[in-house]
Formats: sequence, structure tokens, C-alpha cells
Amino acid sequence: MAELNRSLGFWGATGIGIGAIIGTGIFVLIGVASGIAGPAVILSFIIAGFVALLTGLSTAELSSFILESGGSYIYTTKAFGAFPGFVVGWMKSFDYIVGASAVSVGFAAYFTYFVGIPATTGTIVFVATLWPLVLMLLNLKGIQEASWTNNLLVALKILALLTFIAIGAFALLTSGSYTNYHPFFPRGFSGVMSGAAIIFFAFIGFNTIAVMAEEIKDPEKNVPRAILFAFAVCTLIYIGVSIVAVGIVNWESLGSSSAPLEFALKTVTDNIFILQFVAISALFATTSVIMASIMGGSRALFAMARNGVLPKVLSTISRQSVPVFTLLLCGFVISGIVLATGGNLDWLASIFNFGTLLTFFFINLSLLRLRKTMPDVKRGFKVPFYPYTPLFAIISCIILAFYLNVNAVMTACVFLAVGIVVYYLNKKEKLS
Ligand code: ALA
Repeated sequence: MAELNRSLGFWGATGIGIGAIIGTGIFVLIGVASGIAGPAVILSFIIAGFVALLTGLSTAELSSFILESGGSYIYTTKAFGAFPGFVVGWMKSFDYIVGASAVSVGFAAYFTYFVGIPATTGTIVFVATLWPLVLMLLNLKGIQEASWTNNLLVALKILALLTFIAIGAFALLTSGSYTNYHPFFPRGFSGVMSGAAIIFFAFIGFNTIAVMAEEIKDPEKNVPRAILFAFAVCTLIYIGVSIVAVGIVNWESLGSSSAPLEFALKTVTDNIFILQFVAISALFATTSVIMASIMGGSRALFAMARNGVLPKVLSTISRQSVPVFTLLLCGFVISGIVLATGGNLDWLASIFNFGTLLTFFFINLSLLRLRKTMPDVKRGFKVPFYPYTPLFAIISCIILAFYLNVNAVMTACVFLAVGIVVYYLNKKEKLS
């Protein structure tokens, strides 16, 4: 069986998690969500974070006793067999790819802003098509190089968000004016839920740690710990950023900006170094999410090919110990989707959120099943309040999916149908 190297420790794994989580969601979509929910976007963040956390706990338990790469694909296969596992693995890989396309568009928007070229559809699509290919080449060099670059990007983006919170909070407290928080619910509860369905995007990524379990040392301990730690760090930062953002600037103005954090910060400081630092951090943040998505997507496809549900050639490992063909596939398809969709960010984000809710649904279902079928296997971590936590997670995923754009859901279903055809064609070929 093709094997990957265990070269990442706790911090490397946590870095991959945070790298995959903090990106376009907090730097770009916070504006869209604020425009939908108003100042109550703070609650949207808390609700979306809570829904993601419930599945984070289930993933942490599953990853503490299933140590193969592949994440949700492997869990569902073990719980329900090859076909349901394939459906989840296929959707997860698709999600990584569409998500990376969405984040590339976010990168391109900040890039044009940063270098001062006009943000036309043409320039945005050009940059967003090229950048994933560059990052794919970096991934091909090996996981160590990719992880090192990733950790550097993670440190910079955390610093930028903390800078935003500190400067914004200082301005709020010294001015003593809190009028932007009123009215708190301009769009009512449904606004808060629609905001949560969009900003859910910002929390996704922690499962990349589980997807890469075979490249992590002591996975039974390091994987669950890294998942929960990465999640906690990002959630605290997000809540801080949202409280500050809707406090220092009016929610309607925030909602109409394509670079909302930069826009908000400009209202409280004219220090060019700070403004440039936050703008460039958006570039770092989106870059690290694309990096992590390429890593995760290629490993998810690799795991499926190794198990024979996708063509075997996709499980080839290069001399640099990386799954070379799935990396190439991910890089080119990410760029292709940017080109094909003309860089429509909201649409791509909604497709991505639906795919994630579907895989989260199966992760929780798998946990319920594996507690019955593999009760005695030693687990490094156990979900608290079982079975209520995974049951509530399943219900909350269904509720959130109702607030998503119907067209995005349809597109994801079309892709699912393509996957089912690929599955049966591959099966037929193996039998013949
Ligand atoms: N959570 C990732 C982001 O916000 C997908 O970019």
C-alpha cells in the first residue's frame, strides 16, 4: 500500500488547521454577512461557530482512533461501506476544490487592491486562475516545504487580526460611542440565520488536519488536540473581530465593501503601515487557505484512489513523497473553476457550504454508527454529552442548509451525480 511520511508534530498539524480556517471568510465574507444580519452578525458568528464545533468534536473523536488519511471519507467508509464513503469523499474533494476557487477570488480582489490595478472581472479572474497553479507547484516540492510556508502565513494572519482587534477596540473604548450597535437586529432572526449560513464558510478547514492524519506523528493524540486547539483559536479571534468591526463602522457600509476589514480600519487609523499590513495579511490568509485546500483535496482523492474507488494511478506518490497526480488534478481544476464561473464569489461560497454541511452530516452519522460497531476500540478523545452532541450536530446542519442559496445546492447535486457515474464506471472497469 502507498505510504505517506509522518513528518508533522502538534504545531505543524495545528498550523495546517488554522491555515485552512482563517481566510476569505473573515477578511471578505464578514462584509456580506454583516450586510445580511446587521450588528447581530456577532450572533451569526457564534451560531455558525457552534454548528462547526459540534462536528469538530465528532471529528476529534473519530480521528483519535481512525488513523488513516482521508478524514470524512474514511470514517463514512468504515461506518457505512464503500459507496456512501465514496459519496462523502467525492463531495469533500469537490469542496476543497470549489473552496479553493472561492478563496482564490478573495485573494485576487485584495491583490488588485494592494498593487493598485483596477479590480475588473478580467484582472480578478486572471490572478485567481494563476495563483493556485503557483501554489500547486510549491505543494509538489514536498510536505515539509509546504508546512513551513504555511506556518509563516498563519503567524502573519493571526497577528494582523489581533492588530485589527486591538486598534479597533482601543478606538471604540476611547471614543465611548456605541451607536453602531443600534439597532442590533435590523433584519430580525432570519437575518441572523442567513448571516450564519454564509459565515459558516469562515469556520471550515479544521477537518484538513484529520484528512492528513498519516503525515502527523502520534496521530491519536495530536490530531484531536490540534483540531480543537485550532478551532478554539480561530473562534475567539473571529468573535473579537466581529464585535470590533460592527462597532467601529456602520453595518450597512461594512456590507457594501469588498475589503471590509480594511474599510473598517481606515475609519479609526490613517497609519499607512498598519493599513498595508492588514491588507497584505489578507493575501497571506487567503494564500494559506488555498495551500491547505490543495493539500487536503489531493489527500482526499489519494485516499480514495488507494482504496480503489477512483483510478489507481491517482494514488502514485512522487520522490518528494507527495501524491503527485492528485496534486496536479487539484491545481488545474481549481483554476478551471475560477475561469468557468468568472470568479463569482458568493455563488462559489454557497456551493462550498452545502458540500461541507453534507460531509458534516455524514461525519456525525458515522460517529453514531461506529460507537455501536467498534465500541471497544481505544479512543484518545470522546465526544461529551454523547449521543446528544452528534444528534444536535446533524439537526443543526440540516437547519443551516435551509438558509443556503437553492441554485448553489443544485450545482452541488449535479456534481454529486457526476461522481456517482465516475464510481460506477471505475467499478465496471475493475470488473472487466
Ligand atoms: N474557512 C476558510 C476561509 O474562510 C474556507 O477562507
